[in-house]
Amino acid sequence: MSKLHQKAYDELGPKYCIPYEEQLIDLKKYFPKGEIILEIGFGMGLATAAIADKNRDKNYLGIEVHKPGVGKLLSEIGIRNLDNMRIINFDAVKVIDNMIPDGSFDGIHIFFPDPWPKKKHHKRRLVQAPFIKKLLPKLKNDGYIYCVTDWEEYGEQMLEVLISIPELKNQYEDWANQPVWRPETRFERKGLDKSYKIREVFFRKLISQKN
Ligand SMILES: C[S@@+](CC[C@H](N)C(=O)[O-])C[C@H]1O[C@@H](n2cnc3c(N)ncnc32)[C@H](O)[C@@H]1O
Repeated sequence: MSKLHQKAYDELGPKYCIPYEEQLIDLKKYFPKGEIILEIGFGMGLATAAIADKNRDKNYLGIEVHKPGVGKLLSEIGIRNLDNMRIINFDAVKVIDNMIPDGSFDGIHIFFPDPWPKKKHHKRRLVQAPFIKKLLPKLKNDGYIYCVTDWEEYGEQMLEVLISIPELKNQYEDWANQPVWRPETRFERKGLDKSYKIREVFFRKLISQKN
């Protein structure tokens, strides 16, 4: 972590980071009004900060395990004065299991999750049915889940997994278009530089379900 990001981590962490604990949190304490969007694995957080900056009426909770990325996003939060952002610096699977009440989120973003290209590592991929089934109760009715990858075969897996969950409805015939509000991410740039194809999937939770 650079000195600047370490400084942001030390000075802004106590205000903008929610410590991991094995107990449900009250998100209203951090975000008294407005929609709450979760982002899992924001990396260095530049796209995250840009989205939060342009949508000040919404709130953004970012979960990331990589501490230097957390330091970088904290420095952006400081520069842009993003009071609509909070971070949990921990494993998203554990956070979802232990900290997040049902019906918390209006949307969930998973941008360029690690593709784990080798077949023997596919089991480490984040977007798999068991994890998405854990996420589902955390979404409000009509809330969305939006995943993007530059690894075509993982894109196919994402589409297959989300289609397999009856409570979710694809908002497109198959692949989604990039919404105007999503800026390019750091990993997306790396993929585009290698001429990789970007695949996006955008589903909503059916209104008839609980939460
Ligand atoms: C390939 S990077 C993409 C980063 C960013 N979304 C982008 O597009 O530039 C994937 C990120 O997900 C994070 N990550 C992977 N598994 C995670 C988990 N279980 N909980 C939180 N973050 C995770 C990694 O630390 C990494 O920063």
